Amino acid sequence: MQLFRANIAHFPTPNTASSTFAEDIAIIHDGGLVIEGKKIIATGSFSSMREQYPNAVLHDHKDSWILPGLIDSHLHYPQTESIASFGEQLLSWLENYTFPTEKQFASVEHAQKIAKVFLQQLLKNGTTTGFVFSSVHQGCCNALFSAASEIDMAIVAGKVCMDRNCPADLQDCPDTAQKDSAVLIEKWHNTGRNRYAITPRFAPTSSEAQLAALGELATQYKDVFVQTHLSENVDEIAWVKSLFPKASGYLDVYDKYNLVRPRAVFGHGIHLSSDEWQRLGEADATLAFCPTSNLFLGSGLFDLQTARANNVHVALATDVGAGTSFSMLKTYGDAYKVSQLRHAPIDPIEGFYLMTQGAAVAHKLDDEIGNLNPDTVADFIIVTPRYDELMELRIKPNAEFDDVFFALSILGDDRAIAETWISGQCCYNKKETHYAMA
Ligand code: GUN
Ligand code: ZN
Repeated sequence: MQLFRANIAHFPTPNTASSTFAEDIAIIHDGGLVIEGKKIIATGSFSSMREQYPNAVLHDHKDSWILPGLIDSHLHYPQTESIASFGEQLLSWLENYTFPTEKQFASVEHAQKIAKVFLQQLLKNGTTTGFVFSSVHQGCCNALFSAASEIDMAIVAGKVCMDRNCPADLQDCPDTAQKDSAVLIEKWHNTGRNRYAITPRFAPTSSEAQLAALGELATQYKDVFVQTHLSENVDEIAWVKSLFPKASGYLDVYDKYNLVRPRAVFGHGIHLSSDEWQRLGEADATLAFCPTSNLFLGSGLFDLQTARANNVHVALATDVGAGTSFSMLKTYGDAYKVSQLRHAPIDPIEGFYLMTQGAAVAHKLDDEIGNLNPDTVADFIIVTPRYDELMELRIKPNAEFDDVFFALSILGDDRAIAETWISGQCCYNKKETHYAMA
């Protein structure tokens, strides 16, 4: 049994229409988090936890903060090495940078090498769960799940499926997309902490036959995730219209094939019609808000207010490599800037919700991750806000959590992440630059 002493912040319950984020958040100054094996046992004031668990081994991080491990709800691991590529918007960016980079993942050795760097970036930034696109290659997906399994990390991932409008050597076909995805589901879904997401890249790179095959698979495996892209860029939307003339809109392309449902995570959703907003809400689906990517590719400004009005789940995401940072702190920082342009600033407490409990609730994983409730898995981070001279000046010793989190999101990054714990094991320690992975 281990007892961690620090300030604590998390959301024990889902946010509902009848409560505010400020009412929902639980903050304990000088708190104690008790874990045993892989699980969280209790949280409370440090003095009460010490009294109840006198034999627990003490980790003293007084003045730091313990937060739930952060959740990145949409990103691409093969694009780790093409992050920060200049000058294009979505479609030419895919053509010029993304597809050439993803071709290299035909090599399993290459995939293993990048999977390791990728997971280290997540750990270093305090991200303990990612919703990850691999490349089209089965071996690429296997490499990620294998590497995540080594540290018992809860990864949701899937093999990208695409059978047109991309280089021939990156194409599968309806039949192999369905069969290879089924093999990966059987091998990885709910194996350890891994979970599978059926992953058509986006409508333009899938034929109707491929979407039908993946819809069939989704119907067969009701609790798997679905992840794809939706209404990110205006040229993309016009292209979808010409490729699927019978569909009433972009979302309808996926809906026709039963891919709009709970645990379906759509990246971006920047340019949506009111019918599409309504349908996403009804379907209990999730939008991944990827502000650094949306700004970097010039895609547009996500409309969080309309998402809220339609009861659409929203989760923050980096979308690396169109996203420009692995840091979920910075991701909220850019979400805030986007919301300022919309004259509706996102409160830091809500920003924190969208990368912890809010994401977990959207994905129906809140009995395992996203909060620090007893009996959930011990995925948590130790954050040291006052890590240099500027932060010592800006963040006062007894600052409230919302101010600490906001300053970190605008000014901070991985420098604030002191330790990342997954399944009750320390997987990253900044001081020792130590990663648990081989
Ligand atoms: N749409 C289709 N593929 C991609 C991708 O890899 N990144 C982003 N941002 N959008 C996409
Ligand atoms: Zn993406």
